[in-house]
Amino acid sequence: MRSFSSWRRVDDNAIPARGKISGSYVNSALAKSEAVLNGFDEALVLNANGHLAEGSAENVFIVRDGVGITPPITDNILEGITRNTVMHLLRSELRVEVVERPIDRTEVYLADEAFFCGTGVQIVAIARVDHRPIGNGSMGPITARLRDLYFGIVRGRNEAYRHWCTPVYAERTISSLA
Ligand SMILES: Cc1ncc(COP(=O)(O)O)c(C=O)c1O
Repeated sequence: MRSFSSWRRVDDNAIPARGKISGSYVNSALAKSEAVLNGFDEALVLNANGHLAEGSAENVFIVRDGVGITPPITDNILEGITRNTVMHLLRSELRVEVVERPIDRTEVYLADEAFFCGTGVQIVAIARVDHRPIGNGSMGPITARLRDLYFGIVRGRNEAYRHWCTPVYAERTISSLA
């Protein structure tokens, strides 16, 4: 369950929101802890203009009428690498149109689907916001297809995207070399 935070996203003219600047994580912590203390898992954070910015530490997409919509960089979001990846995969692999534009609070309530994305959270569906179901209140079909595709890629199972992955091998011990 998610809720809109009473905290607003840091502004570009205060602490640039586009970068992972340590001090700005107080903003993330305030939003996240408020959500958890109120019985929710995660917060949706609006910017000072009242437009959706992101989660406490993840970018956000909604889907309406088959179109993926995500807040623009100018709405004080972090320029996430997973957000870029998601836009690429939606457009190139799933043939889903993606639009970057401001999103109002109530448009989230009306969305067919919504999901968070980020290095930590990866891709996770948003099923309810402020106790209101998004779509039918469970993971939507575009989110499900995107998650399958993304997990296949990041786990090295998708040959076409193997170059996105860096192999990590266990170091050989001295005894195994002897
Ligand atoms: C505030 C914030 N927004 C969004 C993200 C997602 O960014 P990325 O996909 O680069 O991990 C993060 C990740 O740490 C973050 O801290």
